[in-house]
Amino acid sequence: MLTLGIETSCDETAAAVVRDGCEVLSDAVLSQVGRHGAFGGVVPEVAARAHAEAVHPIAAKALADAGVGLDRIDAVAVTNTPGLIGCLLVGVSFAKALALSRGLPLVAVDHLAAHLYAVKMACPALRYPCMGFIVSGGHTDLYWSRSETEHELTASTIDDAAGEAFDKVARILGLGFPGGPAIERAAATCAGPGEFFEPPMRQGEDFSFSGIKTGVLYRVRGQNGAGRPDAPEPARVAKGFQEAVVHALTEKALAACRARGATQLAVGGGVAANKRLRARLTERGVEEGVEVLFAPMKFCTDNAAMVAGLGGHLAAQGRTAGWDLDAVATKDYRRGRE
Ligand code: KG4
Ligand code: ZN
Repeated sequence: MLTLGIETSCDETAAAVVRDGCEVLSDAVLSQVGRHGAFGGVVPEVAARAHAEAVHPIAAKALADAGVGLDRIDAVAVTNTPGLIGCLLVGVSFAKALALSRGLPLVAVDHLAAHLYAVKMACPALRYPCMGFIVSGGHTDLYWSRSETEHELTASTIDDAAGEAFDKVARILGLGFPGGPAIERAAATCAGPGEFFEPPMRQGEDFSFSGIKTGVLYRVRGQNGAGRPDAPEPARVAKGFQEAVVHALTEKALAACRARGATQLAVGGGVAANKRLRARLTERGVEEGVEVLFAPMKFCTDNAAMVAGLGGHLAAQGRTAGWDLDAVATKDYRRGRE
């Protein structure tokens, strides 16, 4: 069974073809980074308009790369929540029109469940229930995952998401956008120890990254923002900041596993592409008796393979959407969902 997946929730226009919920036949992504770089973050209306331009060509590319025509597709899956509303609406409208015109079932996919499904797709050894961890530009969430589609939020950030903190600190250091990869590259060029920042361990089970961001700002520019003659090297700051954030992400995720008796931790989202985080979590997981499973590098950041994958899994269970499917910007995962 072949599923065409469409993803437009933020600033990546993506489409993919996946067989039977697990075999990725194609994965086309058009990043809008060039359009948002000057603003240091994603501008919602710019992003929505860019999706409107790109969604059809990207879907055509996904089909061509997979070597299949639309006549071979069995279902159309689309991210309908959560995300930027204008962006989601472009994908939902496109997927609806395509499915309706071809007489295909339409499948609604939750973007966060899809990030976690990217782990399951690559690691069949993942068993439910397990802890799920999404570390991205919009989310820093821990979930008690009961199945591919049931994720109950157990902890979240009270302010910035981890990826957002990477992006803001990269901006302070003049390293460019997106900040995560830029900070990781800069940190790798620092041979000595990084600048020390206190790991953000307060807030109990929840996360908080706005304090360390301000800490970096003061260390680099001084309390009055005028700059400091003794400001440390950007690479040294990048390394120390990354270390502190990785420490907090690692220890809080493992503490959540301990609290629930979980022996597997599934990690996805853009920041899960960070090599220092992958190494540290894996190493500490071994010490704690927790098997840490990551989404493959290319399926950490937003992509449609995870959407087509989860869409295929849902379609196989007959869980299709009606033609009244709506786009929903935010959702409450606290009480668990189906
Ligand atoms: O999952 P994603 O593509 O979009 C959201 O759903 O948010 O995540 C994007 C975020 C950005 O904040 C980016 O800076 C961060 O993931 N990111 C990284 C790395 N690659 C991407 N953060 C740290 N290290 C990386 N290598
Ligand atoms: Zn995402």
